[in-house]
Amino acid sequence: MNDKLIILDTTLRDGEQAPGIALTPDDKVAIATQLAKLKVDIIEAGFAASSPGDFKSVARIAAEVKGPVIASLARTHPDDIDQAADALKAAESKRIHLFMSTSKIHMEQMLRMTPSDVLRSVVEGVTRAKRYVDDVEFSPQDATRSDPDFIVEVCRAAVAAGATTINIPDTVGFAMPEDFVELLTRVYQDVRQGNEEIIISTHCHNDLGLAVANSLSAIHAGARQIEGAINGIGERAGNTSTEEIIMALTTRADHFGVEIGADTTEIFETSRLVSSLTGYPVQYNKAVVGRNAFAHESGIHQHGVLRNRETYEIMDPESVGQHSTLVLGKHSGRAAFADALVKLGIKLEDEDFQRSFSRFKELADRKGEISEEGLRAIVASETDTPTAAMTLVSFEVVGGSTRPPVATVVLDRDGTETTASAEGDGMINAAFVALQDAFGIVGSLADYRVEPLNSGADAMAKVNVILQVGSSTYSGQGVSTDVVEGSARAIVSALNKATFDRGAIDGA
Ligand code: KIV
Ligand code: ZN
Repeated sequence: MNDKLIILDTTLRDGEQAPGIALTPDDKVAIATQLAKLKVDIIEAGFAASSPGDFKSVARIAAEVKGPVIASLARTHPDDIDQAADALKAAESKRIHLFMSTSKIHMEQMLRMTPSDVLRSVVEGVTRAKRYVDDVEFSPQDATRSDPDFIVEVCRAAVAAGATTINIPDTVGFAMPEDFVELLTRVYQDVRQGNEEIIISTHCHNDLGLAVANSLSAIHAGARQIEGAINGIGERAGNTSTEEIIMALTTRADHFGVEIGADTTEIFETSRLVSSLTGYPVQYNKAVVGRNAFAHESGIHQHGVLRNRETYEIMDPESVGQHSTLVLGKHSGRAAFADALVKLGIKLEDEDFQRSFSRFKELADRKGEISEEGLRAIVASETDTPTAAMTLVSFEVVGGSTRPPVATVVLDRDGTETTASAEGDGMINAAFVALQDAFGIVGSLADYRVEPLNSGADAMAKVNVILQVGSSTYSGQGVSTDVVEGSARAIVSALNKATFDRGAIDGA
């Protein structure tokens, strides 16, 4: 029997550290629920002590998501560890993941700690975490730029204090596969020292595009846990992509000789959900989940695939959950819409179904046909809004190239309409100012992205925005055949979240 390789997914912790991502606790629970369907072994749900929002997300995932072990990251500070333990209280199986930098540059410039301070803090941290949980992971941050002798010393001390997983992070994506194998071999031999209870793990960043290659290379050096994030999101150039690891290990099981528990057929849905909730599009040629991953353009390739799929495909699209594309038209009714949602694995409550169906009809009337991607985008934008929300009743922008545009918006909340008009230095700016007036909230657009959902002059677009209000950020998305209207809808969605958040803070 092959060895088991553990997949730790950190989409909700390291992945969420990518610039411009602002997931709400509801978004995080939705992603964690999907990760449980994908059957990853461990979900790193967040960094509980980093913010009240992160604490709440970890606590909700710990209480609501069953199956995988739920982990929280923590520094070796006592308060971080106590908060991680508190947030994880309700989890069936839990892990505290401690980290501390071990490279000279981090210790001297960032932490202002000596190596012996670091060593002491790691031992104290692991000892404290063990009071709460059996399962403690320790990571020497910036390991690939640290002195290997010091890593071995610190990791041995962590193991002696009770850590059972030693994770070697290539924090800045600096390692080459050969260096990484050498370091992992050293850790495997000198830290694990034949103790079968100790798991050696990898956590690779993608600054040089080597994260997946480095992670896989470590398997031959004895690593039996790989950390990654869906769609490879994360700090800077991102993390090891979880789905690429799963498919490499499945497709080349002959090469690696390790077993994983993942359900590959959930990959596509997981990637799509993460992309939709983070607003980070998946690059067209992305391995495994990109739009072109199974598309064949040249005549020779198409001919080959028609004769036998395996001439040019090493993976079956069905095995990663890709299925034939659905299209609905303007004559499709409620039953066809409901049937399409069932095929896409989308379940909606009555109110969400009604809102999504109405929006589908409006857009289908304008556009004729709505693709599967369009359907998903409509549902995502219509179900992204908290209760007690304002809805956009009408929207108009006049002016443009010869005089400054003026936007007029009408919004409804529980039958009461609010109208606002504003001039802006562009159509989207005018809409933004008018909508802020209507909501009584002042913020700025920290991020704005338009994603075409199909090609051609009559294309539909999905607009993703990140709204900054004070120190908080709120994401929103809108879909339309008109980019300005799609933008207004996305801004309304983000403003609704900000309103809801302020209400919750005020105790309303
Ligand atoms: O990249 C890194 O070093 C990390 C650690 C906290 C594991 O994310
Ligand atoms: Zn990281």
